[in-house]
Amino acid sequence: MAKKIVVLNGSPRAKGNTSALVAEFKRGAEEAGCEVEVFLLDKMNIHGCKGCFGGGRNEDHPCVQRDDMDKIYPSYRAADLVVLATPLYYWNFSGQLRTAFDRLFAVAECDPNYRNPIKESVLLMAAEGDEFEDALQYYQHLTGHLGWTDRGHVLMGGVMKVGDAKGHKELDAAYELGKSIAPQ
Ligand SMILES: Cc1cc2nc3c(=O)[nH]c(=O)nc-3n(C[C@H](O)[C@H](O)[C@H](O)COP(=O)(O)O)c2cc1C
Repeated sequence: MAKKIVVLNGSPRAKGNTSALVAEFKRGAEEAGCEVEVFLLDKMNIHGCKGCFGGGRNEDHPCVQRDDMDKIYPSYRAADLVVLATPLYYWNFSGQLRTAFDRLFAVAECDPNYRNPIKESVLLMAAEGDEFEDALQYYQHLTGHLGWTDRGHVLMGGVMKVGDAKGHKELDAAYELGKSIAPQ
């Protein structure tokens, strides 16, 4: 059966450096026989979590807020692997990714013990510099808390403007990482 992959791309730039990593990862994963769905979060109508602890009543739209997260929830539930793709913003994930990720809590609320669905995960990041330590530690903390299995990361430093990713070896690494996600 084809492995299902959901990519949460938190870059506001559809043709930027994070998106270049996503494109190569996707190419590799599809060649390996996976199904890949990419959500460009910045182009979607996604509001911040209200912290109401009132979700989880409907599996199709588990959050009390009704917005474009309703497009992500079914894909997220079905996914075997979740890719967190984001530019480095102030040593962390972008707000777009953080905002969407908070809203996935509503899926855990469907379980009486707030258990999260078990997934595999990948981290793809781009930055002007190369200070990824805090973001990587956060990713490891987050996925460890969720009980997810980390399949690897690609961190591409030295890229600022759209197009800077061209020729960077991390694009090859993203392709290879995608290719390594074999169907189950
Ligand atoms: C608000 C903001 C914060 C940023 N913070 C950092 C940072 O802490 N470290 C860094 O190396 N680059 C930082 N950058 C640069 C971006 O990470 C870099 O331009 C990256 O290539 C953008 O990825 P994108 O093309 O996918 O949008 C920041 C850029 C913005 C707009």
